[in-house]
Amino acid sequence: MMSEVIIPHNQYIPISEVPTTENPEDIEKFPQSEYKKLIVKIDTPLNRAEIALLNKIQKKFSKNGFQMIIEEFKIILYLHSIDFEAFKIHINSLLSTTNPELVDNTIFLSVIGKISKIKSYGIKGGKRFYVTYNDERKVENRKSKVNKRGLYYYAQGNNFSKKNTMLPEQFENNIICRDSEEVLKELPDNCIDLVITSPPYNFGLGYDTSKDEIDWEKYFQKLFDIFDECIRVLKYGGRIIVNIQPLFSDYIPSHHIISNHFMEKKMIWKGEILWEKNNYNCKYCAWGSWKSPSSPYLKYTWEFLEIFAKGDLKKEGSSDKIDIKDDEFKKWVVAKWSIAPERKMIQYDHPAMFPEDLVERALKLFSFEGDVILDPFNGVGTTSAVAKRLNRKYIGIDVSEKYCNIAKKRVKEILPGTN
Ligand SMILES: C[S@@+](CC[C@H](N)C(=O)[O-])C[C@H]1O[C@@H](n2cnc3c(N)ncnc32)[C@H](O)[C@@H]1O
Repeated sequence: MMSEVIIPHNQYIPISEVPTTENPEDIEKFPQSEYKKLIVKIDTPLNRAEIALLNKIQKKFSKNGFQMIIEEFKIILYLHSIDFEAFKIHINSLLSTTNPELVDNTIFLSVIGKISKIKSYGIKGGKRFYVTYNDERKVENRKSKVNKRGLYYYAQGNNFSKKNTMLPEQFENNIICRDSEEVLKELPDNCIDLVITSPPYNFGLGYDTSKDEIDWEKYFQKLFDIFDECIRVLKYGGRIIVNIQPLFSDYIPSHHIISNHFMEKKMIWKGEILWEKNNYNCKYCAWGSWKSPSSPYLKYTWEFLEIFAKGDLKKEGSSDKIDIKDDEFKKWVVAKWSIAPERKMIQYDHPAMFPEDLVERALKLFSFEGDVILDPFNGVGTTSAVAKRLNRKYIGIDVSEKYCNIAKKRVKEILPGTN
């Protein structure tokens, strides 16, 4: 710790004015039910410059969330909620504009370090909540009630083999230009860890080779033939994630029809992510009745990711192959993801790409490093590119030679591990 240096008196608060926990009023002000208490120990009493800095921090973050009491050999932190990213940035910027002779940085880094060690908190509006985030309506005897009802009854009694196999070498890290139903038939059972894909939606888009305005029954039949192969090649405990948008204007709930199919095949519905694209570009009187209950037409700015597991909700994997960070995990398990639509569709000459960010979140949340990732509708290789970047293996299939060539070039430029 630096020795105290004389600085003009009006720049800091005298130590005698600093409150202490001995004062019962302070304890009452920060009750345990509303604040998490942390103690940062210090070796020598703080100097005036350090106290002044701490007070600046307290002042900026005190509104309803962060309180601090400074004593001779400790700083007591009371946390309700805090924008932790802003908190770190503020402290670092204060330190960078303060004469290092005057303050001991380690005190401030200890405050940051102590807070960052708290692993249980909720996230709301960009803030971490350290208390009351867990409050929920309690159901008595919850476990026994779950047992009575039974979990995922529709997926019981499956015949999935638990014996997983290796993906044959010739398919590994490969982009294959053919019909995916044909290619998948050449793969052995149980060799893929995760399928993530966005099939054609049958909206009438201008793809390079495939038609996108097929009779709905034929469309779903082809899709299901491919998805059935995906289920077969998936490992026990593996996952399938299908990004889909229903064709609202034709009243076709594709996300429900696809989900029903997976459930009929005894896959476990692991959940659904709502991908909020915030694309408010739909005109308000395009279809339906205007300002009348006769037939109002609903508008959507989001798509869905339907997630299914084969045989088991748990997936085998080694803990040193987990690459998701604490904050990513906390944010992404909240199943509404706000991600802008892909902006590089003109550059890659493809009309319906999904964004890399969407795939990155799905891969980090649902797969381990080293896993094999399959996309049977690979387009210009978004899935393969992200899988390679995140140290996964990939196999991407698309009928269009043009898209496959773009995908190959794109993937070649990716450096693994450039996370
Ligand atoms: C929605 S796009 C996928 C785009 C991809 N997610 C991306 O970001 O580039 C659907 C893709 O499926 C391909 N496709 C259509 N029918 C197919 C089939 N039977 N086998 C393989 N690919 C097919 C199309 O060529 C198209 O590129």
